[in-house]
Amino acid sequence: MLDRRKVVPLMLLSLHLLSPVEPNCPSVCNCTSISVSCINGNLEAIPDFDSLLTEPVTIDLSGNRISIIDAENFDFNQSANVKEMYLNNTYLIDIDAGAFSKLINLQELYLGFNLLNYVPSDLIRYLPNMILLDLSGNYFEGSMPVLKSQSLEVFTLLDCMITRIEKKSLIHLPNLKFLSLMQNNLHFIDSFKSIPHWFMLKLPYTTWTCDCQTFESFDYLSSLNYIDSSGRYECHFQNNAVQIFNSRDVRTQLCGKTPRGQKEIRVTKEIFKKSLPAISVSTFQANTEDDNKLIEKRNMSIGVSINSLMKVFFMFVMIVVLTVFIKGTFASKNRKYLRDTDSTTRLV
Ligand SMILES: *[C@@H]1O[C@H](CO)[C@@H](O)[C@H](O)[C@H]1NC(C)=O
Ligand SMILES: *[C@@H]1O[C@H](CO)[C@@H](O)[C@H](O)[C@H]1NC(C)=O
Ligand SMILES: *[C@@H]1O[C@H](CO)[C@@H](O)[C@H](O)[C@H]1NC(C)=O
Ligand SMILES: *[C@@H]1O[C@H](CO)[C@@H](O)[C@H](O)[C@H]1NC(C)=O
Repeated sequence: MLDRRKVVPLMLLSLHLLSPVEPNCPSVCNCTSISVSCINGNLEAIPDFDSLLTEPVTIDLSGNRISIIDAENFDFNQSANVKEMYLNNTYLIDIDAGAFSKLINLQELYLGFNLLNYVPSDLIRYLPNMILLDLSGNYFEGSMPVLKSQSLEVFTLLDCMITRIEKKSLIHLPNLKFLSLMQNNLHFIDSFKSIPHWFMLKLPYTTWTCDCQTFESFDYLSSLNYIDSSGRYECHFQNNAVQIFNSRDVRTQLCGKTPRGQKEIRVTKEIFKKSLPAISVSTFQANTEDDNKLIEKRNMSIGVSINSLMKVFFMFVMIVVLTVFIKGTFASKNRKYLRDTDSTTRLV
């Protein structure tokens, strides 16, 4: 008979030799010292991370079939180390409000391309380091979901069937710097007027209604540099697509002499259907990575402009200093020369 005390360590040893990975890694995942990756693993539930001996910074569970996340799923010993969590493309339909509460240092949460039509407003509220939340490709038919976070900076909700943005969806995100609402079904944007701080919006490929309010709202946003106006910004007027940022004729027609609101045209289902092919031209080319790059670009351009201002100022100071110096030396040289000529004349 085999001695169990010998067999168990032997088994562990052979496991260790067979796989270069850490032995307490959940079976369908790959673990390194800083990551747990369970991509496309056919998982139907969150694996048990309690036996992990490593301290993962990244957990990637994307591409599985995990439909529900409840409050205990991420309650494991090293949960405080996790900074990035990928749960995109995994058929999620329901997330408990406390699902991520143990991931107290979480910074990035990817919940894109799931089946969510609701997220609890407290989902990330008590995570003080949250920076990025991606909820793109879900089904929030109706209002933009309300989320509360003091720290969130980047929020992406592209292609979520959102039709309205209410004030309450924005006022609980005081640190928001970038919001992408591309490819939703928005028609009006008046809620943004109440945003007290700067942030960048991305809103192309959306069927706006041509009316004074729409034009005024876009003017307001672009005058404050709140909007990234690359991409297609169109509203619909008498079955035509009108460029919002270049539309003087329609504008005059709508807002010129007629009192505001009288000629307001609402997008009908037919117009919307007709415009769908146009809208989906560049569908899915844009993603959160692009958005991140955009923010970086903006950051860089701010940095660059400050830098170049500093350079110009520095050069100006240098020129002034040089002029004064050159003038000074010339003057003293002249004096010397005079003295020399004096002495030579004396010598002669
Ligand atoms: C684990 O790593 C192997 C080899 O690199 C790879 O083929 C496999 O897809 C990975 N599995 C997961 C779940 O990441
Ligand atoms: C996790 O923590 C519990 C107690 O909090 C402890 O009993 C257990 O051994 C720990 N597990 C690991 C793998 O560290
Ligand atoms: C999950 O999202 C990340 C970041 O957007 C992306 O790189 C990755 O390919 C996605 N995973 C799957 C399985 O779609
Ligand atoms: C943008 O700049 C701020 C401060 O200058 C910095 O904290 C932040 O990390 C930068 N963001 C990106 C995406 O580079």
